Amino acid sequence: MTQEHCSQTIHVFKKEMQICSLDELPAVGGVERMVETENGRLRLVLFRHEGGVVAYVNGCKHFTGTPLNPNGVGNFLHPKNSNLIRCGVHGALYRLANGACVEGECDGKGLDRVAVTVRDGYVISNCS
Ligand code: FES
Repeated sequence: MTQEHCSQTIHVFKKEMQICSLDELPAVGGVERMVETENGRLRLVLFRHEGGVVAYVNGCKHFTGTPLNPNGVGNFLHPKNSNLIRCGVHGALYRLANGACVEGECDGKGLDRVAVTVRDGYVISNCS
């Protein structure tokens, strides 16, 4: 049995900003958005989840900085289990709900979760 490695929530925003409209997120699958932070551009991937939204840095823990969707292909999810995010490079699996790594070359780490909230139909960065 593979041991799960937890993700951590990171706070990259100093102020609230709109990341995207909730309507831009499909019922199943992730959407990538580039955002500007005080520390530069960041690739985020956002998913609908249990009536809300979860957001992660689009970077696999196997090779730091490698996007989970090489060449922008795919919807980020395991084709047979939509509760798992699958890295399209070497297949590491992360739990959609919390970013924990459940299988593969995750280097003992989960995805970096970014705090967001939904308000008035928009996904908003959470700076607190
Ligand atoms: S870069 Fe993601 S599993 Fe290798």
